[in-house]
Amino acid sequence: MAPRISVVVLYLCLFVGISSESDEYDATIKTMEEFSGYQIHEPVLQDSSSSPLSVNTENLQKQIDELSTFSDAPAPSVTRILYSEKDVLARGYIKNLMSLSGLSIREDAVGNIFGRWVGSEPELAPVSTGSHVDAIPYSGKYDGVVGVLGAIEAINVLRRSGFKPKRSLEVIMFTSEEPTRFGISCLGSRLLAGSKELAELLKRTVDGQNISFSDAAKFAGYTKNEDLSSVFLEKGSYSAFIELHIEQGPILEEEAISIGVVTAIAAPASIKVDFEGNGGHAGAALMPQRNDAGLAAAELALAVEKHVLESGSIDTVGTVGILELHPGAINSIPSKAHLEIDTRDIDEKRRNLVIEKIHQSALSISKSRRVKLSEFKIVNQDPPALSEESIIKATESACQELNMSYKKMISRAYHDSLFMARISPMAMIFIPCYKGYSHKPEEFAAPHDIANGVRVLALTLAKLSVS
Ligand code: GLV
Ligand code: MN
Ligand code: MN
Repeated sequence: MAPRISVVVLYLCLFVGISSESDEYDATIKTMEEFSGYQIHEPVLQDSSSSPLSVNTENLQKQIDELSTFSDAPAPSVTRILYSEKDVLARGYIKNLMSLSGLSIREDAVGNIFGRWVGSEPELAPVSTGSHVDAIPYSGKYDGVVGVLGAIEAINVLRRSGFKPKRSLEVIMFTSEEPTRFGISCLGSRLLAGSKELAELLKRTVDGQNISFSDAAKFAGYTKNEDLSSVFLEKGSYSAFIELHIEQGPILEEEAISIGVVTAIAAPASIKVDFEGNGGHAGAALMPQRNDAGLAAAELALAVEKHVLESGSIDTVGTVGILELHPGAINSIPSKAHLEIDTRDIDEKRRNLVIEKIHQSALSISKSRRVKLSEFKIVNQDPPALSEESIIKATESACQELNMSYKKMISRAYHDSLFMARISPMAMIFIPCYKGYSHKPEEFAAPHDIANGVRVLALTLAKLSVS
């Protein structure tokens, strides 16, 4: 096996070292500059039209821009919620690109989409790569998208180079990495990794409009979702999984490093809390008589911040991203309050301690404010994931052979990779993004940075495919 690896790597190395095809100052950058008020400097790029590992940067950017138009929010914001009309359009767009790249397409019962380039030894476990294209409300156009469109382009890059995979290569577009619609993050990859609890839970899960998961999936064309165990993949289904993603943090840009090689993904958790008070008239009910559910929620939000800070580590974070009051009238004391809390840490024990403290605070606030704590539900409490050393090494040597600067780093954001790690050796490739912005419309990654990521991905896939 070893001679074969070195022959292929040597073959690829003969042709690498040159960058992307287009260096135009395009409309996207102009829009971003106008929108954010910051100037985005584009370095001069080398021409690479003769490189077998050259990325069609212009086309890739066009695809990113086109995909961003399938959105329920005006540009530059992107909102693309699971199984919405726009999500269905985006799915069609991705499947079309996959088939144009000669991939054979399979979709499972929840709409994870797989595009496979069959290798010369198809009985071997394939190497897979991919990410998501759903987008939280009013976010940007790069989160996840770079890892799906970039993966398809990496396949094109390899095809153009004349490379022939030994292990099949597979691009995966995961369903609902974002928890927006059903409150469940990484829904598709969690199921792929065999979560029986989630398969059960989805039988009775509804969205904010009381639409069941099953009906929503049917709307998007996924009609066979009674038995979601069909989605589960065996451990060992892939020999490796590697996800390309924007960093969503500022380090690579600040340090002017091209590539982040992810060594671990922090442990995320999310919690839903409901308080119930008596409500009443905002003028007539005197302060001592009130059981204000809204104030209980406000107090708990501050307690979340306090408990997170008490950890003493910069790695512990907590966010109350949803706080809803009922009935939501200025002259009505909130009778119900609903919070959703996101907390994460690279240290699982420390994160769990924060969750416990939040629970204690919710109990004591409900007592002191005489409101009912009608729900305290830990929706997910996931462990962190470690990248596989052999994939880290393959990525590092791809960076070296491509003359690209890189650094090892952890991912504080979660990704489908967190769950793919349960069934496959996993690693991730990060690229810089503008000021580390993400989950907001100002999110931006420069075309040459995306092209760098695609080239590293392509070469890493090639290495993994022949190992
Ligand atoms: C992913 O979208 C995350 O919230 O980390
Ligand atoms: Mn995201
Ligand atoms: Mn993402």
